[in-house]
Parts: sequence; C-alpha cells; structure tokens
Amino acid sequence: FQSDILSGVRVVITAGPTREAIDPVRYISNHSSGKMGFALATAAMEAGARVTLIRGPVNLPDPDRIQCLRVESARDMLEASLQQLGECDIFIAAAAVADYRPLQTADQKIKKSAASDTLELTLVKNPDIVATVAGHEQRPFTVGFAAETQDVENYARHKLQQKNLDIIVANDVSRSDIGFNSDENAVTVFWQQSQQAFGQMSKTTLARELVRLIAQRYRAATE
Ligand code: C5P
Repeated sequence: FQSDILSGVRVVITAGPTREAIDPVRYISNHSSGKMGFALATAAMEAGARVTLIRGPVNLPDPDRIQCLRVESARDMLEASLQQLGECDIFIAAAAVADYRPLQTADQKIKKSAASDTLELTLVKNPDIVATVAGHEQRPFTVGFAAETQDVENYARHKLQQKNLDIIVANDVSRSDIGFNSDENAVTVFWQQSQQAFGQMSKTTLARELVRLIAQRYRAATE
C-alpha cells in the first residue's frame, strides 16, 4: 500500500479520550475507543511516515514501529503535543478531548455526604489542543476531526476556519452504526477549496484513504 507517499514526513497523532480527575479514584471522560486515531497512525507509518502517537487511556496495544506517548488529561495531551512541534510536519487531532475538567481535583477521595443528596462540581474549559497547535509559530500542516449530529458541512467548515485547520474530517454521529466506538466509519473531508465524501468502510481502509488525501493536500500546501 502506497509505501512512499509520506516517506520521511513526521506525523504526530492524538487519539482516544482524555481523563479529567475529580479525586484520586474518579474522573470525567467519554467513550472514545481510539480506533480511528490508531488506524491513522498505522496507515501513516505504512505510507513511510515517522509517527508519534499521543494516546489517551484506551484498551489498545501500542502499534508496531510507532513512538507512543501515554497521557491522561487534556493538559497532559497539550503538553506532549507542544513538545513534539519541533519535529512535526503533519499534526492529526483524532482525540476526543474532554471539553471541561473539574476546577479542583480533590487530594483525597470525596466522601459521600449524609447531609446532602446533591454534590456540585465546578468545571472549567480545557485548552483546545489542535487550535493551539495550528496557531503556533512553527505551524505544522494541521488536520482536525468534527463529530456533528446535524448540518455537518456548515459546522465543519466553521470549525475549519475557527481552529485554523488545513483539513477537517467530519462524521455524522447521529448514526449509531458508525463513528464512536464502532469499527466502521463514513466521513466527509473539507478543506478550503473543496471537499470529498468517503462512504461507509472499515476504519483501517478509511485511514488509508485519509492518509492518501492528507499526503496530497500536504504536498500541495508545501510545494
Ligand atoms: O470543537 P470540537 O471538540 O468539535 O473539535 C474537534 C476537533 O478538535 C478534534 O480534532 C479534536 O481532536 C480537537 N480538539 C482538541 N482539543 C480540545 C477539543 C477538541 O484538540 N480541547
């Protein structure tokens, strides 16, 4: 498979969910399986790239021949991403980053209260990792994802502009047979000048198609 289209290119990919600690034993997270990001990492490696995978907590083994960095929180993921910037030509943000984290993380396990039936947690916004990377001085070619339930093109194009991305990969998560936690996905990819739809297929096959398109757009942008 297209073993040279990214030869020598340094690709950094974020994948999986993040975990935002409430106390030493509890956290806020989501159901991201990490499958799409891991499939992209393998496809990019097979295309000749030097790949670093910044992985949130997921149940997948580190793929062969890929440098893997394990992180937990969004802030850890941001720090790891920024540390890679000096050696990154293409940044692909496939992680499902928690939008908010608890304002405070308790040092000890929070005890159940006998006095009250409710407990309030104050949440604070997490940094936007892909927007921070795309706004950096040494800006890599930047690819983001968008999970939308309606009006996919409008929201995706808005996100492309707002986060200063080169490419956005949008999937319609109102469909339960694809996307989050599934082995299959169907997406539409948008960039400034055009767009391309990919019908339902395995995440492995889709990852190869996406790597082919990303490599094309990357070459067009850097030539
Ligand atoms: O804004 P929204 O969460 O829909 O954007 C999704 C895209 O932004 C994905 O590429 C995701 O990895 C990235 N993202 C990020 N940091 C955040 C939130 C989203 O990198 N805090």
